[in-house]
Amino acid sequence: MSEMFEDREQPAGKDDFMPSLPVMVRLVEKRRETPGIVSLLFELPPADSPSFRPAQNIPGQFVMVWLPGLNEKPFVISYLTTAGFGITVMVRGNFSRRLAELKEGEMAGFRGPFGRGYSRYNNYQPEKIAILGGGCGMAPLALLAQAAPDATLIQGAPSARNLLYLERFPQQIACTEDGSYGIKGTPLQWLEGRVAEEFDVVYTCGPEPFLKAVVSLCLTKGIACQAALERYMKCAVGICGQCECDGRLVCRDGPVFDGTELAAMPSFGHFRRDAAGRRVSAAAGSPVAGCSPQPSRTCNGASPTEQ
Ligand SMILES: Cc1cc2nc3c(=O)[nH]c(=O)nc-3n(C[C@H](O)[C@H](O)[C@H](O)COP(=O)(O)OP(=O)(O)OC[C@H]3O[C@@H](n4cnc5c(N)ncnc54)[C@H](O)[C@@H]3O)c2cc1C
Ligand code: FES
Repeated sequence: MSEMFEDREQPAGKDDFMPSLPVMVRLVEKRRETPGIVSLLFELPPADSPSFRPAQNIPGQFVMVWLPGLNEKPFVISYLTTAGFGITVMVRGNFSRRLAELKEGEMAGFRGPFGRGYSRYNNYQPEKIAILGGGCGMAPLALLAQAAPDATLIQGAPSARNLLYLERFPQQIACTEDGSYGIKGTPLQWLEGRVAEEFDVVYTCGPEPFLKAVVSLCLTKGIACQAALERYMKCAVGICGQCECDGRLVCRDGPVFDGTELAAMPSFGHFRRDAAGRRVSAAAGSPVAGCSPQPSRTCNGASPTEQ
């Protein structure tokens, strides 16, 4: 298994790493992945860049993307080679739309990586790893799947046209809710049908109700599990408190948490905070399509329910 998938503590906190100011890099290629999702491939920054070092990225960590005059938001690195890196953007609101509209040759600012990514269990067998995702939830799992080629990769989407990275990972098991491609159903239903002995560990990312169901299923079956949590972020370095979830700072302590940690968080699967810090339903406006516990859920549109 690749070095990219090592268990590391806070790699962004190295002495010479000052992740305060964004580094501007050039967009070199745009790839339309699905009707609402595009991948943006950028040139690498200088190797000694003080605040942006994509080569240090562990799958599941995130970087902050800055569009001058607009905002700065978290995204994961979904492509990484010696020539460049990429992010995969699902258009949801103003920022993601403007990001997806960037033209080749234009620049965006980056800092990071931040937080804790997926970690390896040294005693677990590579072929007994399952990686479960859907829609844009596949983005943080893509580099993980690359680093763990013997793992079983399962992707869910509402329909064939919403599936990501099909050519990139031809070995993956695809589930579609309408049955238009692969197995009819969801990755959760697929996992429900497996016996505990098949997997040592499940790595997952997707809408929170789906994550909650996966974590609960894994705990019941006695399978270790790690999931990436999404919370509104501003500083990304544990200062502003915007991403707080049951006493944990998701930007610093996560975004990837162990299933047992998540199960102990009362808000997990129920509430998140919006840009103004108000508690809203974790399910409302669910950002990632195709891995819902209920087959009828879709990705976009619903506005959050005020509590
Ligand atoms: C660690 C981390 C990594 C991320 N990585 C990616 C990535 O790789 N690719 C990607 O496309 N996005 C990613 N995101 C989400 C991204 O940062 C933005 O939040 C997203 O693009 C929406 O921003 P916006 O301004 O376009 O939309 P907004 O105007 O903020 O929101 C548009 C709609 O989406 C809903 N929404 C926004 N955030 C959430 C949420 N957390 N849960 C449920 N509904 C929500 C809003 O309620 C609203 O209905 C990540 C977020 C985090 C915290
Ligand atoms: S985003 Fe500021 S503390 Fe997490």
